Amino acid sequence: MIITIANQKGGVGKTTTAINLSAGLAHNGFRTLLVDSDPQCNSTSMFFTPQEIKASLFDVFLDSGVDIATIVRETEISGLSSVPSSIHLAKVERILAGEIDAPLKLKKALSNITSTFDFIIIDSPPSLGLLTVNALIASQATLIPITPSPWSLEGVQDFLDTFKSVKETFNENLQILGVLITMFDSRTLLAREATEKIKDVFGDLVFNEVIHRNVRLEESPAYREDIFAFAPGSRGARAYENLVKEVLERAGK
Ligand SMILES: Nc1ncnc2c1ncn2[C@@H]1O[C@H](COP(=O)(O)OP(=O)(O)O)[C@@H](O)[C@H]1O
Ligand SMILES: [Mg+2]
Repeated sequence: MIITIANQKGGVGKTTTAINLSAGLAHNGFRTLLVDSDPQCNSTSMFFTPQEIKASLFDVFLDSGVDIATIVRETEISGLSSVPSSIHLAKVERILAGEIDAPLKLKKALSNITSTFDFIIIDSPPSLGLLTVNALIASQATLIPITPSPWSLEGVQDFLDTFKSVKETFNENLQILGVLITMFDSRTLLAREATEKIKDVFGDLVFNEVIHRNVRLEESPAYREDIFAFAPGSRGARAYENLVKEVLERAGK
């Protein structure tokens, strides 16, 4: 199953969720691939230094047609592989302008390696441009992290419009796997109210597990560790463990 983590707003926990969901799936014995499709390279830098990266997802988008299988790298987490991103990915939009198959590049590239993995998780950039569209066309499902604030629902509406047109035009099987409340702060009334509104709009699509604001989750990237390795007993680790279970249930595994 290919799942894109998406929300065009930055700082809502996309990368944190992509990393810890991927790591959690790998810990559960599923062969997992994390594809970093964000030119900011945040999930890439969890696993590799810039010097360690020779080829990246950028090369897959070029006409030279680099086979994505040659870019897949094993990570230090057993069962988890990764396709690194590159700052050059920001140029893809311009380079592919006018190419008729521009939105289909990632789907075509991944089709060669889907049978190698049980799950492919795509971390996407904070925009609704060509990279996010490529990711959604390549996926069966999308997981939408939302930070509950008075404006979070307005922000997600643009994403839902993009989701709908991708589904209608390119990928009728695309589903919303779930909406994940992230960085929840139970002390603020605003967060509680916004969470209720999100549940009103998305109903059962909202995962039962809520990711609370948690210092350990914030610290772990600096140590280049997933939350299970960095702080196994923490609230953040338990939350992502439960999310992994819910994702497995919804994926029918
Ligand atoms: N539940 C959380 N509690 C505290 N900090 C978090 C939490 N989730 C993410 N963060 C931190 O918030 C920042 C933005 O998260 P990130 O996952 O990079 O968002 P995005 O990929 O959507 O831009 C990062 O510094 C990250 O470490
Ligand atoms: Mg990110």
